[in-house]
Amino acid sequence: MSSIFVRGGVELRGRVEVSGAKNAVLPILAAALMAPSGVTRLESVPRLVDALTMVEVLEQLGVRAAWREDVLLLDAENLTASEASFHLVSKMRASVLIMGPLLGRLGKARVSLPGGCAIGARPLDLHLKGFSLLGAEIVLGHGYIEATASQLIGNTIYLDFPSVGATENIMMAACFAQGLTTIQNAAEEPEIVDLACFINGMGGRVEGAGTDTIVVHGRRPLHAQSYRVIPDRIEAGTYMVAAAITGGDLIIENVIPEHVISLTAKLREAGVTVHSLNDGMHVVSSGVIEPVDIKTLPYPGFPTDMQPQMMALLALACGTSMITETVFENRFMHVPELRRMGANIRTDGRSAVVSGVRALSGAPVTASDLRAGAALILAGLVAEGVTEVCGVGHIERGYVGIVPKLKSLGADIWLGQF
Ligand code: UD1
Repeated sequence: MSSIFVRGGVELRGRVEVSGAKNAVLPILAAALMAPSGVTRLESVPRLVDALTMVEVLEQLGVRAAWREDVLLLDAENLTASEASFHLVSKMRASVLIMGPLLGRLGKARVSLPGGCAIGARPLDLHLKGFSLLGAEIVLGHGYIEATASQLIGNTIYLDFPSVGATENIMMAACFAQGLTTIQNAAEEPEIVDLACFINGMGGRVEGAGTDTIVVHGRRPLHAQSYRVIPDRIEAGTYMVAAAITGGDLIIENVIPEHVISLTAKLREAGVTVHSLNDGMHVVSSGVIEPVDIKTLPYPGFPTDMQPQMMALLALACGTSMITETVFENRFMHVPELRRMGANIRTDGRSAVVSGVRALSGAPVTASDLRAGAALILAGLVAEGVTEVCGVGHIERGYVGIVPKLKSLGADIWLGQF
């Protein structure tokens, strides 16, 4: 088992390039199943464990896949199965995104019911409500969900919460439905827009992505295409916080500045200088952090996926900040670990009161999930002494080469065995 070790105290400087977005590529990989012939060519695919797992899911369905560096070629002409096994779904929840495309293309999909995960229960009721309003029959049993439909018919689907995954799954199934499907209270995340652009590039017609009402015109002939995935706004945000927390000066390349507006606003409130560049961000910090309050919300609100990293930063602010997590019910798993490094954080339900301390001290800590792991690395970058972050597997799910990238910015960081 390996750990990431960080010796704190270096002000990061230089340029770092952000990879393709994990949360955009996963639904796009699922959507590649919708092309009945031809080869889909995806550029800027991050070679992350989650992307590799999704490719494995596709291969089990009969898709032929080939990598050329960060370009992935997919041929989904001959699908031989319609099931994602427990083994793969338990590795990665996002594999449930194959349901919409399979239901549409084959009339059936069977996926192992994902359990809860470290950050919450994460049910699939909204995905299933959408499929059933499109005319699918849903059966739950033996730990699997099975959806079947001889034909799908467009409908109006109101989501009780703007779920990212449900919006994506329903959008993809609706491409095969007769007539129009309207998704109300849809998620507005940039990854939803990217999926809509991908579908439209295949010949589909999705309108309104990026707003709360999405209209899908069904049964348009779809074909394979070439497509470039958007940059990862959460990876970008993590490096922005790395500059802020270390009192550094970083240019973060391959960022769409509009995708990080909420983080930019909060970093500026905290006293950090942030400039938008053409395709990047320039972040300069004196290391003095003002306290700020944060409430996570669906996009364009503050992303829950940046909450742990911001908590690490605010643990060193000169005052008290309040963080409220409204998206997931159990997303404070990093708090006890940050406390072990000397942070002063109290939680009560979905709120955390973060009283800034003068310094953190390096300690062995465990990453319970991906973004918690990122937060602990950030804390380690400024902590006195060495921090050992265990649970590297979680971190590798979402950050391409985080150790070499931070090293190239001057960080004293290395991968080692414990
Ligand atoms: C996606 C992202 C994840 C991010 C999250 C919120 C991917 C692969 N993952 O996850 O990184 O943290 O969006 O921005 O894109 N919910 C229900 N019923 C449902 C579906 C969701 O109650 O049917 C609830 C969830 O339990 C959670 C909230 O809705 O509390 C948000 O979940 P959702 O937006 O669906 O997140 P994911 O798509 O799983």
